[in-house]
Amino acid sequence: MKRTKIVDVLKDTEYGKDVCVKGWVRTHRSSKAVDFIALNDGSTIKNVQVVVDAGTVDDETLKLITTGACIGVTGKLVESPAKGQASEVHCESIEVYGLCGSDYPMQKKGQTFEYMRQYAHLRLRTNTFGAVMRIRHNMAIAIHRYFHEHGFFYFHSPIVTASDCEGAGQMFQVTTKNLYDLKKDEDGKIVYDDDFFGKQTSLTVSGQLEGELGATALGAIYTFGPTFRAENSNTPRHLAEFWMIEPEVAFIDLNDLMDLEEDFIKYCVKWALDNCRDDLEFLNQFVDKTLIQRLEGVLKETFVRLTYTKGVEILQEAVKNGKKFEFPCNWGDDLASEHERYLVEEYFKKPVIMTDYPKDIKAFYMKLNDDDKTVQGTDVLFPQIGEIIGGSVREENFEKLMSEIERREVPMKDMWWYLDTRKYGTCPHGGFGLGFERLILFVTGMQNIRDVIPFPRTPKSADF
Ligand code: 4AD
Ligand code: MG
Repeated sequence: MKRTKIVDVLKDTEYGKDVCVKGWVRTHRSSKAVDFIALNDGSTIKNVQVVVDAGTVDDETLKLITTGACIGVTGKLVESPAKGQASEVHCESIEVYGLCGSDYPMQKKGQTFEYMRQYAHLRLRTNTFGAVMRIRHNMAIAIHRYFHEHGFFYFHSPIVTASDCEGAGQMFQVTTKNLYDLKKDEDGKIVYDDDFFGKQTSLTVSGQLEGELGATALGAIYTFGPTFRAENSNTPRHLAEFWMIEPEVAFIDLNDLMDLEEDFIKYCVKWALDNCRDDLEFLNQFVDKTLIQRLEGVLKETFVRLTYTKGVEILQEAVKNGKKFEFPCNWGDDLASEHERYLVEEYFKKPVIMTDYPKDIKAFYMKLNDDDKTVQGTDVLFPQIGEIIGGSVREENFEKLMSEIERREVPMKDMWWYLDTRKYGTCPHGGFGLGFERLILFVTGMQNIRDVIPFPRTPKSADF
């Protein structure tokens, strides 16, 4: 008989019909007259209850049906007399596909997320990770839908690159060279002309530079792909491999850009509320009791728009009034996460879009303001998360961009193609990058970024 997914079985009200469900056993309770098996197949957070009357299945088989075992059940769909579920499956026969012994690492309830990280290959079968992964999928769908509906084209930027977009030098090298026998020049520098690409290459930290080429031809594009950063930050907000969404738009100014950021995030949050209700309710109950309230709150709020300079004034005022921060916050300093969170969580109590940062703490491509000191960068700061989006209007003027590149000594050799956008028909444009996992953190209420991606890559950790 053809298998039906549990998500569909639970919606079905054609009681009395035959069904076949397959999945992994969550719990199995036995009594003399009847056995109850809670079965989950990953299609929904909800289990289907399988009721096995005594004598239907032999005792030897029933003994094999332990937590984590994989089984197939055929039986009749019946209206459930019990509370909390509409229907259940009245078992006629069971096929056991896979046994699961008592050493199954995901067996006990209430295990910590740290513990489960050691079993990233099996934690996917738990309720929490099932919920997170289904929401992650839904967010990817929401993102593609949003941009498609708004006339953006999905643009594939390369993963292997010879340029460092963020200029931070935190790149993973890509090479086929024999690392035990490296060819070097007279100054002791490694020679790359015999390497696979004939030059030094790395995994990309951002698709933006290529995205700008797309936007200045197609008008509006977005990238959505993996990005890699070899920064040694062992925090609950950083991964070495994460996914980034980078829209880039021609003929846009700073206000348009902020409108886009706010509208886009709200669309994604609304999508989660509309399409992931069961999973959100589970997470709201077991992971973060204020989750749904916070998500609904974001939809209602108009995000605060604040310049960096004003933000620093607020922080300094707070320090004067006795607020203690670990790091200083003088004009020109990069804000620490504690500063961002103070503004968002304590001062404004809503998301903040900060703009007009000092040029020296931002990347070379950001458009310079008339004051010659600040650039048209925008970061979107979120409760619990801190920075969720980083973006800017781009410097479209060739001379100004060149002078910044020279001042910072950005290696030019590999940037000629980028400069061509400014040489030939340059146009005002801008865009941003949303950290996909940071969005998932916000939408799920999970605390650690390692728990919202199936197989996290962090310093000293690349298992699975
Ligand atoms: O602020 P970032 O570095 O900006 C850029 O890369 C620009 N090129 C984006 C653009 O304008 N097209 O990174 C963008 C976002 C951050 O706001 C953050 O959400 C996320 O990417 N991010 C990380 N997420 C997880 N782990 C890391 N190590 C991250 N680094 C950045
Ligand atoms: Mg940033």
